[in-house]
Amino acid sequence: MRTSMRGVNSLSSMKRHHTLLTLTIVFVACGPFIHGQSDPVKSENHLDLTLSRIAFGACNNPRNSTDGMYQALLGERPDVFVFLGDNIYGDTKDMNVLQKKYDELREQKGFKELQEKCTMLATWDDHDYGDNDGGNDYPMRKESEKIFLDFFKEPEGSIRRQRPGIYSSHTFGQQGQVCQIILLDTRYFRDKLPRTQYKKGERPDNIVGWYRPTDDTSMTLLGDAQWKWLEQQLQVPADFRIIASSIQMLAVEKGMENWGHVPHEQQRLFRLLKQFKAHQTIVISGDVHFAELSKVDIGGYPLYDFTSSGMTHAHPGWAKTKNSFRIGKAYAQLNAGVIDLNWKDQYVELRVIDHKGKSVISHKIPFSELQFK
Ligand SMILES: [Fe+2]
Repeated sequence: MRTSMRGVNSLSSMKRHHTLLTLTIVFVACGPFIHGQSDPVKSENHLDLTLSRIAFGACNNPRNSTDGMYQALLGERPDVFVFLGDNIYGDTKDMNVLQKKYDELREQKGFKELQEKCTMLATWDDHDYGDNDGGNDYPMRKESEKIFLDFFKEPEGSIRRQRPGIYSSHTFGQQGQVCQIILLDTRYFRDKLPRTQYKKGERPDNIVGWYRPTDDTSMTLLGDAQWKWLEQQLQVPADFRIIASSIQMLAVEKGMENWGHVPHEQQRLFRLLKQFKAHQTIVISGDVHFAELSKVDIGGYPLYDFTSSGMTHAHPGWAKTKNSFRIGKAYAQLNAGVIDLNWKDQYVELRVIDHKGKSVISHKIPFSELQFK
């Protein structure tokens, strides 16, 4: 399978783009028949590409002097690379500045090579959205969305250009090897998170942020439209499903932005996963400048959140923060995440790689474990 994937990767990016665009058009016309259901769920369908390796990374500052994780990622030869947010450090309300910073990413040698050699998917986090820890009160969110979609070559007429927010879903492969990648937008609709006002010296050493869980159930992280869409997406038939969230979903104790601060929405997602029996689903996340693997039993299902963050800059101090759900050790140097899908032997291997391409964390999960009881 790896050999045939390399053949796919040797396509020029233009040819690949044309192929994927054609397949997308075919799917929009034929989707209900392919999936045997009447609801034409908008999940871009890439039938010709069976995924055996998906890589992802977050927190990439093109202004950093290092080439970061690109050579290591290229060495993995992934079928798909997911940019999980903080892809640049925009941090501005000036769209000329934001555009200029995206232009710098386009000129990063490693970025260019990676974009040519694999299919690239992307969502954003706060810094590339334009506002540190920003949410729905960022006044330039519409303008920022256009720059993002243009940069990542979203086709004109795509559903993503017709609705607010950049969330999207992509389905690869067929016949028992269907992998769906759901990319969430945790910024565009998110209400302001409540903060704890620590007095000097009061904040515990193993907490680095200041956010706390809200008990206001009217507060949203994803917003109504994205929730309705996500509910549909979880019903798309898939043999393996990846939910990509820029912020962590299960590691909720460090005070940094995460799903635990909007607990009713975290529980809503768990309920939906159970309701639709979304077997063989994992979460990936970024944002925190180190790597860790977390696991929570959400009522008869072991949900994993695979966090990798720090493509150009890591934060060893933040890796010392509290996470009762962490499996094994955290890794606090430059890193990226790799997901190997072994369809033949029915398991997934989650790996964190360092900047030399060495696997520094590795965890194998048989598909038989990822079943709702
Ligand atoms: Fe972030």
